[in-house]
Amino acid sequence: MTSAFPRLSSPAILSPMAGVTDVAFRALCKRYGAGLTCTEFVSGTGLVRGNAHTHRMVHTDVSETPVAVQLFGNEIKDVVDAARMFEDRFDVIDINCGCPAWKVIKTGAGSEMLRSPERIASFVNKLASSVSRPVTVKIRAGIDAKTINAVEVAKIVEDAGAAAIAVHGRTQAQGYSGRADWDIVKRVKDAVDIPVIGNGDVFTPETFKRRLDESGVDAIMLARGAVGNPFLFTQIDQYLKTGAYEMRDRLSLFDEFLDLAKEHALDFGIVKNHAIMFSKGVVGGAALRLALTRCRTSEELQRIVLV
Ligand SMILES: Cc1cc2nc3c(=O)[nH]c(=O)nc-3n(C[C@H](O)[C@H](O)[C@H](O)COP(=O)(O)O)c2cc1C
Repeated sequence: MTSAFPRLSSPAILSPMAGVTDVAFRALCKRYGAGLTCTEFVSGTGLVRGNAHTHRMVHTDVSETPVAVQLFGNEIKDVVDAARMFEDRFDVIDINCGCPAWKVIKTGAGSEMLRSPERIASFVNKLASSVSRPVTVKIRAGIDAKTINAVEVAKIVEDAGAAAIAVHGRTQAQGYSGRADWDIVKRVKDAVDIPVIGNGDVFTPETFKRRLDESGVDAIMLARGAVGNPFLFTQIDQYLKTGAYEMRDRLSLFDEFLDLAKEHALDFGIVKNHAIMFSKGVVGGAALRLALTRCRTSEELQRIVLV
């Protein structure tokens, strides 16, 4: 039995990002208006084997409802077993079919799965019949400019029981270069009945609204635009409702991030990376980042950032 994708309080979703969307950062994005938060991609095999580091990745904050876990792997049994182990904590189980990193695609996982849509369908089908949560898939436009197959993949995963599909309008070959193709996102939206989530190059509330209107997608995932900038979710909400939005210094949210990081016992290195990301685009940011890269303790970091 396929369960439905949850209703979201906002069409702005926090996209999964390895090394960025840890529990504290997700909780902060939720607080500032993300309609759905999602873990970074987590290895199904790592979870099944009880890897401690991997297990920390599926820790969630109570505020995160709804929340998705993104799993990846080439061993379907591991992905299914991992989903069954942790489904109680999550509202959505997502399968990563978009990662272009060599260490992932060489194992046949991530965006490499786009080479065989039937394999993705079989993942979806097995997962959807094994867990009681909605199963979604995050894909790219295709492998390269010659093999754009997002529409084909979307139709096949819909038939296999997926509750929604997210489409990043770049190919595996593009990595993060070039521009996201929103025509392909729109073509997917026109081809299937399940909710479609568009993704790629949305950094401002204006672009968010334009992409939403032009493509007709049900929601949009934000990745790089949200890094160090959870207030973007509030701005999008304001803009969709009123046509205007407030500006706010990104760093002014960092003390809230620190509290959440403490509560969830995040490693110093992770906190430091976020501090560097929050300081991008603020006045005096370059000097701040230089000091941050040199700092070694939490106390020192707080002295530098919370002035
Ligand atoms: C640092 C970083 C880590 C990422 N990690 C993941 C991941 O774990 N899973 C995933 O599906 N996509 C991952 N992505 C891709 C993003 O979720 C998103 O699809 C892509 O960045 C395009 O969206 P954007 O233009 O809003 O950044 C990552 C992107 C970045 C920049």
